[in-house]
Amino acid sequence: MNVVIGFVLATHIIGVVALLGGVLYQMKAMKTGDARMAPGMLHGAFLLLISGVLLIGLNEAAGNDLNHIRAGIKLIVLVVITALVYINRDEPRVSNALIGTVGGLTTLNILLATMW
Ligand code: HEM
Repeated sequence: MNVVIGFVLATHIIGVVALLGGVLYQMKAMKTGDARMAPGMLHGAFLLLISGVLLIGLNEAAGNDLNHIRAGIKLIVLVVITALVYINRDEPRVSNALIGTVGGLTTLNILLATMW
């Protein structure tokens, strides 16, 4: 079971990389106001959603201790992130504030996962 949990945790981390990496990749475009929601950001958000729910189920099944309040708050934050990326996915450019919000909320979830 530990191997499966480790594998799903790895896909969870890949989701973080895709989402936050997508935001960081827009830095140059933000200078000219041409930033957009890259497709990889949406894929990363969906991957985080699926792998996060799987991680809860697998850890429950294995009898591991889980912080459900932390997972619940991360889920709410990710739903907001996913909505922002999904709604604006076809826009040729989005505001720097919007991209910054997605990056900030993703960082918030990383801090919740590592510091709480
Ligand atoms: C932007 C969204 C998210 C980010 C950046 C994120 C980040 C992380 C990171 C860095 C870890 C590894 C550190 C650790 O093991 O504690 C982790 C673990 C985990 N995440 Fe996420 N996560 C996100 C969304 C979610 C969601 C939506 C769920 C559940 C629905 C979730 C459930 C979990 C679970 C169950 C673990 C295993 C460790 C634990 O919490 O006990 N995550 N997450």
